[in-house]
Amino acid sequence: MTRSIAAAIREALLECDPRAKVMATRKVARDWRLGRLSFVFDVEMPEVPGRPDAPELLPPGRMPKRGKGGSERGRIALWHALAHIEFVAIDLALDMAGRFGGEMDEAFVSDFLSVAADEAMHYALIDRHLRSLGSHYGALPAHDGLWEAAHKTRGDVGARLAVVPMVLEARGLDVTPATLERVKANGDKRGAGILQRILDDEIRHVRFGANHFADVAERLNEDHDSLWKSLVSRHFGGAVKPPFNDSARLAAGLSRDLYGSIACS
Ligand SMILES: [Fe+2]
Ligand SMILES: [Fe+2]
Repeated sequence: MTRSIAAAIREALLECDPRAKVMATRKVARDWRLGRLSFVFDVEMPEVPGRPDAPELLPPGRMPKRGKGGSERGRIALWHALAHIEFVAIDLALDMAGRFGGEMDEAFVSDFLSVAADEAMHYALIDRHLRSLGSHYGALPAHDGLWEAAHKTRGDVGARLAVVPMVLEARGLDVTPATLERVKANGDKRGAGILQRILDDEIRHVRFGANHFADVAERLNEDHDSLWKSLVSRHFGGAVKPPFNDSARLAAGLSRDLYGSIACS
């Protein structure tokens, strides 16, 4: 008998060690692609995924200031923050597939497991870069806001899609180009290459989110834009912040008409 997809995803979520989580995630994605896991959801996803002892997680308001990023310390702080985002992104993508896969379909699971495998690769590339700078993931504190934001939407796939890929990951599309320019200006070519790859992949992640959200809206027979706005205001509770990377957002299937209406000025 083949193993259930839910059991395999749960195991990867509960993995605490970052390298082991990366390997487990890539294995789930590969096993699913090769038809070695059955489309069965017989176990629940954990409330909190496995985490390493370090980094220490602080509320966003208690994080030390990162500074300008030109100094060695600033550079390490930047890559450490990015490593943390990608590490949490692995869990977010696994949780999406494992928590909501059963009420969606096999294509949904395929899409979000491919996202999880991408995030695992992003994390591994960044951690390697961080080590080349003489640091490593866990050396600094990190903030816990990302999982929290997602966890609030654990009961509703539409809300999860509206908030995680379509607000939080879309925000990554807005801020990454400026980070990339700064990294390039510092002469860090390898770092710039990593960020370019991440930016390209994240467009696809947001697009998967937008496509599946459109399916949910259609299934509920709800107006797409008003459903998105009401879910974002209920579960994200705030306006989205400009400046926007309109061209990357459009490539990901987000129209300015949609997010422009809840943008703060
Ligand atoms: Fe990523
Ligand atoms: Fe992503």
